[in-house]
Amino acid sequence: MSIFYDKEKRLFKLDTSDSTYVIGIYEENYILGLYYGAKIPDMNFGGFCKRLPSASFSLANPVIGETGFTPDTAPMEYGCNGAADFRISALCIKNAAGDRVTDIRYVGHRIFDGKKAIPGLPSTYANSPDEAQTLEIDAVDSVTGALVTLVYTVFNNSPVMTKSVRVRNTSQNTMWIERVYSACFDFVSMDFDLITIYGRHAKERNINRRPLGHGVQGVESKRGVSSHAQNPFAALARHTATEDSGEVYGFNFVYSGNFSALAECDFNDTTRFIMGINPTDFEWTLNPDDTFYAPEVVCVYTDKGIGEMSRIFHRFYNSNLIRGRFKTEKRPLLINSWEAAYFDFDTEKLLAFADVAKQLGIEMLVMDDGWFGHRDDDRSSLGDWYVNTKKLPGGLKPLIDGVHGKGLKFGIWYEPEMISPDSDIYRAHPDWIIHVENRQPMVGRHQYIADMSRQDVRDNIWNQMNDTLSKNDIDYVKWDFNRNISDAGSALLPKERKGEFFHRFILGTYELMERFTSTYPDILLEGCSGGGGRFDPGILYYSPQIWTSDNTDAVDRLDIQFGTSLCYPASCMGAHVSASTRTGYETKGRVAMWGTFGYELDPRKLTDEEREIVKQQVKDYHKYYWLHRNGDLYRVISPFEDKHKAAWEIVSQDKSEMLFTLVCMRQETNASLFIRFKGLDPEKYYVCEQDGETYSGAFLMNAGLNLTNKANADGESLTLYFKEK
Ligand code: DGJ
Repeated sequence: MSIFYDKEKRLFKLDTSDSTYVIGIYEENYILGLYYGAKIPDMNFGGFCKRLPSASFSLANPVIGETGFTPDTAPMEYGCNGAADFRISALCIKNAAGDRVTDIRYVGHRIFDGKKAIPGLPSTYANSPDEAQTLEIDAVDSVTGALVTLVYTVFNNSPVMTKSVRVRNTSQNTMWIERVYSACFDFVSMDFDLITIYGRHAKERNINRRPLGHGVQGVESKRGVSSHAQNPFAALARHTATEDSGEVYGFNFVYSGNFSALAECDFNDTTRFIMGINPTDFEWTLNPDDTFYAPEVVCVYTDKGIGEMSRIFHRFYNSNLIRGRFKTEKRPLLINSWEAAYFDFDTEKLLAFADVAKQLGIEMLVMDDGWFGHRDDDRSSLGDWYVNTKKLPGGLKPLIDGVHGKGLKFGIWYEPEMISPDSDIYRAHPDWIIHVENRQPMVGRHQYIADMSRQDVRDNIWNQMNDTLSKNDIDYVKWDFNRNISDAGSALLPKERKGEFFHRFILGTYELMERFTSTYPDILLEGCSGGGGRFDPGILYYSPQIWTSDNTDAVDRLDIQFGTSLCYPASCMGAHVSASTRTGYETKGRVAMWGTFGYELDPRKLTDEEREIVKQQVKDYHKYYWLHRNGDLYRVISPFEDKHKAAWEIVSQDKSEMLFTLVCMRQETNASLFIRFKGLDPEKYYVCEQDGETYSGAFLMNAGLNLTNKANADGESLTLYFKEK
């Protein structure tokens, strides 16, 4: 049993493998969040409910009296708007009278084994009912009639808890949800740093760590997608927490649209943290009996540092988020045509790529953008998903048969949510794009966005895709999305529902993705958005891998991959060797090997020497495949902390093997380098493949190895592989 309810004390205790979360029901049925942290056996939380009120300026509930309890300072489990809790609120509902005061109180609960899916939304799952337990707390706002259900699942085998919320209108009148965050936490102190990952196109997911200060701070997206700019991830780490030690709380929102992650430190030096759908441009009309489902937040607690937080996310996503055949099956080593040819290809050229690729040991050819409509550049044809027979005479069949005939698998590119102004679909249905009446919609990469909130638009796109996919033997699809959303509006949404547009767009996208994955479970899907602009757990639920960045330079990739690894596993991180020139092919291969690994170049242009390197990389790829797929990541030298070197390890779960990679970004003169390795078994002995020596795990982790002058020139790198003796 992981969830206990103490009826006398009215306390819930939710245990994961290594953390405890405690919720209390206080007088007048206020729901309080009393504790989140390391596992504790008991629940002696009586004193936690009251904190110092600020004289008459912190307001009291007259039924309870001015006894020291005030919603202003109490650890509210799900802070609501306007009823004397003045901090950032998780919920605000406007009722038929136009009032926004929202005040929910406990009315009941359920505890059950396993975890339920959230209708229409991606979410993590339990592999069996005994892997997790769920608590649903019902709380009612007696004035509006909103029934708010706070949903918690705790996992037995990892320190992961998920939180989500649903709101049902039990009244006779319409109500409007103005904000509904998915998770709210009140911590009793503010000695935290906020860690987030920000970026831009080709420079995704840089790590930002800053101490919390009084007031509100945080990150958000209003771009209609999770975005390059900020990722829906945030961690609260104690000031003293490091990569390898200290308390860290990690939060990741399973959602691909507008999000908000905010921390507020108040006058009592406490911290409220909330994460959920961004309330900007959001308003949801809830008619009697309607239910709104808010997406879930994955919450990780550890007292073993930021690195351990990452490993917990990685293991959890590999086993409880990623779905389908390729969750466990080996994925093909691919070569993608984009950086090799851009729009300039035809059947003959692609078959020539396939010939050389086959000789090199590559297993799949992916035809990227440019195969449909009359798309010879990025100015046309999105939405016209039929083959350009000028480039591919006879259609896809001769190409696919040719590729398959050479023993390679075949993949194709789509950008389903986009419509070019120069397209048949737009000419026939100008109202199918996202737009607002009387306003000229903005363009991005010369394209508009299909109105995914509309069933007819989704059906049209699906029918076109399905026509191609059902008639051809396609093994892989890359699903791209190359701009942000502005002019957010739909021709079909009535005035009173316009605030629903952004969320309906995402629900429509998920519906289409679900149709795809359920109709074609054998096709490997790779998410993409101008590189990594939609790299989030929502997309990961549908596609087990996501293209990490359009920047394939091995040195730039270090930042991108280190940042991405804060919460996303190597198994999903699309990483290719390209013809970029800053480093040699060895280093490009070592960096890409961390992720899903593949090539993005014209293989005919490789020199003989480069071909030999590629052949060796293909061997290494197979040798280390399962280590990368299932191993634990240890970040050893972060490029965000060291200007010269970056290093990381992948250690197998049973600690019997480890691959260490060191990359020199910029030569450092006269610097010595000793590496103390991490994550090994001190009792085991390991043979290092490169120097032939045997070392104990204890030696490697405490004394370490002297790597001075190894891989010390710009762009150089090395790997060391250790195997248990
Ligand atoms: C952006 C992607 O990130 C690239 O890999 C490529 O697919 C282009 N779009 C094609 O337009």
